[in-house]
Amino acid sequence: MDIKIVNAHVITATDEFRGEIGIHKGKITELARKVAGKADTEIDAKGKYVFPGAIDIHTHLDMPFMGETSSDDFRTGTIAAAFGGTTTIVDFAIQGKGMRLRDAFETWMNKAKGKAVIDYGFHVAICDLNEDVLAEIPEMVKEGVTSFKCFLAYKGSLMIDDGALYRILKRADASGALVMIHAENGDIIDILVSDMIKNGKTEPKYHALSRPPEAEGEATGRGIAVAQMAGAPIYIVHLTCREALEKVKAARDAGFPAYAETCPQYLLLSYKNYEEPDFNGAKYVMSPPLRSKEDQAALWKALQMGDLQVVSTDHCPFNFKGQKELGRGDFSKIPNGAPGIENRVSLIFSEGVLKKRINLHRFVEVISTAPAKLFGMFPNKGTIAVGSDADVVILDPQKPFTVSVDTNHQNVDYTPYEGLKGKGTVETVISCGRIVVDKGKLLAEPGTGHYIRRKPFKGRYM
Ligand code: URP
Ligand code: ZN
Ligand code: ZN
Repeated sequence: MDIKIVNAHVITATDEFRGEIGIHKGKITELARKVAGKADTEIDAKGKYVFPGAIDIHTHLDMPFMGETSSDDFRTGTIAAAFGGTTTIVDFAIQGKGMRLRDAFETWMNKAKGKAVIDYGFHVAICDLNEDVLAEIPEMVKEGVTSFKCFLAYKGSLMIDDGALYRILKRADASGALVMIHAENGDIIDILVSDMIKNGKTEPKYHALSRPPEAEGEATGRGIAVAQMAGAPIYIVHLTCREALEKVKAARDAGFPAYAETCPQYLLLSYKNYEEPDFNGAKYVMSPPLRSKEDQAALWKALQMGDLQVVSTDHCPFNFKGQKELGRGDFSKIPNGAPGIENRVSLIFSEGVLKKRINLHRFVEVISTAPAKLFGMFPNKGTIAVGSDADVVILDPQKPFTVSVDTNHQNVDYTPYEGLKGKGTVETVISCGRIVVDKGKLLAEPGTGHYIRRKPFKGRYM
C-alpha cells in the first residue's frame, strides 16, 4: 500500500464515515474501520475532514483574451489549484476564427503538456461554426471532450448567434455532449458599452453598469428556450443574479434539464467593489459583473435548495500592473476576468458551511461531486469510494486563514479577496495517489497531472 490515512473523518456528498483509507497505485483500495498492513506513507487526519478532491470545471489558463494572455499557465495555475484543494480542472480550449476544433484542442493539450501537477480536461468553446466544425463535434467527444461552450456575449470576438447555438446543441446532444453557455445579451451590451464610452463614462464601474442583470436574465432565458427547441440539456456558466436564476428555476420546475453554476466572487463580492478608488475597481472587471447583496443572498439560497448545482471559479487572472491598467480611461479595454482558483474550497467551506448557508454534504456536492457527474468524471472522481481515483483533500476546519496575494501561489499581482478572513485550511492534497501538497509544501513535479478523457454526458442528472 502506498498511503494509509488514519483517523479519517470522511465526508462525501451523501455519506459520513470514520476510519482509515488505503491508497495504492493511484486508486482508493480500501475503506475500513482499520486498514490492515503497512503503508509507505501514513497520514494522520485526526481533527480534520477528509473530502473528495475538489473539481473546478471553469478555468482559463494561458488564455489569449482581449489582447492579453491570462497570467497563470498550466504550471502555476495547477500548483495554485492544488494548494487550494483542487485536484482536477477542466479548462476552456478556445476555437479561433477559421480554426478547427481539433486545432483548439491540440493547442490547449500542448499548453498543458509537461506542466500540470493535477489532472485536467478540456471543454472546447465553439466560436466559428460551419458544417466541417459541426462534424468535428462527435470526433471531439471521442477525444474525451464531452462539453462545448458557446458565448452569447463578446460581440465581434467569441459571440455566436442563436442559429449556431441551436445547431451546436442538437449535434452535441446527439454525440453525448453537454453545451455550456455564457449568458449575456452581447448585442445590447455592445451598444451600452459604446454609449457609455461616448458619454465619458470610462471608469471601471461602468463595466458593471453596461452589463445589467436584465441582459443576463434575457440571454439565460433565451439560451434555455433554444435548448428546449433543440431538445437538449444546457448548462449556464457563472450565473450571477436573480433575473437569470428565475429562468433556470422555471425551466427546472417544468422538468427541463437546465443546470447552472455560480462562483465565489458572485457569492462574496458586490457592485460596491467597482467603486474602490485609484482604479482598483478594475480588479473586479469580469463578465458578467459583480451584482448586489440581494443577488448574493439569492445565490446562496439557490445553492442550498439545489437550484444551482456547481460552484466553480472562472479563474481568469490578469495582473493589475500592465494588464488591467490598459483600461485606464476606457473600461472596455480592461481584460475581463479575475483570479480565484486557489481560494474556492476554503472560501466556500468558511462562508458556506461554517456560516450555515450549506451543509457539509452539499459543500462536497457543489465543489466536487456534481461537477464530476455533469462533466463525465464520476465515479472515478467526485467521491471517496473503493475503486475511485485517490483524489483526496484533508482540511483543518479550525485553522484560520486570511486570503492574501502574499501567501497565494497564483501568478497574479492581486486577489479580489485580499484580507478576507475565515476558518478551514487545506492541509494535504492527494491527486491520483500522489501527495501534491502537504502542510504548505509542494511535493509534485510539473507534468505529473494526467489528461482526463471524460465520458459522454449521461442524460438527466439532477
Ligand atoms: O470575465 C470573464 N469571465 N472572463 C473569462 C471569460 C469568460 O467569460 O468566462
Ligand atoms: Zn464567460
Ligand atoms: Zn470563464
